[in-house]
Amino acid sequence: MKKKRKLLVGNWKMNPQTLEEAKKLFSGIKKQSQSLLHTDIVLCPPHLFVSDVVKINKQKIISVGVQNVYFESAGAFTGEIGPIMAREIGCSYTLVGHSERRTRGESDEVVGKKVKLALSEGLKVILCIGEKERDSEGNYLGFIIEQLKHSLLDVSKNDLDNLIVAYEPVWAIGKTDAEAMKGKDMHEMSIFIRRTLGELFNSVDVSGVKILYGGSVSSNNTADLVGNGEVDGLLVGRQSLAVSSFMEIAGIVDTI
Ligand code: PGA
Repeated sequence: MKKKRKLLVGNWKMNPQTLEEAKKLFSGIKKQSQSLLHTDIVLCPPHLFVSDVVKINKQKIISVGVQNVYFESAGAFTGEIGPIMAREIGCSYTLVGHSERRTRGESDEVVGKKVKLALSEGLKVILCIGEKERDSEGNYLGFIIEQLKHSLLDVSKNDLDNLIVAYEPVWAIGKTDAEAMKGKDMHEMSIFIRRTLGELFNSVDVSGVKILYGGSVSSNNTADLVGNGEVDGLLVGRQSLAVSSFMEIAGIVDTI
């Protein structure tokens, strides 16, 4: 059977501080990514650095994404960028609904509008979902269903191949790798997310939707999360800020 390609996404957040550092980090990852056989790499630098890193990625060895887009294409929206702008400058992906944006007031409704417009403008959307905390009654599962439902309200089933769901439990982001989710728990969540997607899209084939895990990923937990977690890839924050740590993770993902 043909091995399904994995996706490894680096979310640089508001890092690094200079364009020189950004170009160096991007070039280093790009160079080493050439040896990967089964893994696609996406890097999401801060908006201001995107057009410069795209220029050093002429052969498109890796893909570039933005960390956020607005839900309108143009207009009087100070400080925002639209999906067409992102696509025109050379991005093929966008993150939408990262928890660090949701805590600054981004609602499910706004996330849903962003997902819809970005998909219709031809970007691949990495929709971030995840509960703040877990409870023994399993209420967090209802929370995940609601997040998916609202975020995917107007998405047509024809767009599903361009949708990636990144499950990032908020309690696991920015912690030590020992505090990240365990592979066996992620396995349950992968099944749950896929089942929910199936229900939301009236039982159409949702196998084309990639499911990623994010939250304190490092080379120590990569094999467990990808191997036992049944995910199609990972969304990496801090460990994507150095070529060596990111490529160590990539090397492990590529062999699973
Ligand atoms: P982290 O961030 O890997 O630094 O925990 C992940 C994320 O927020 O996407």
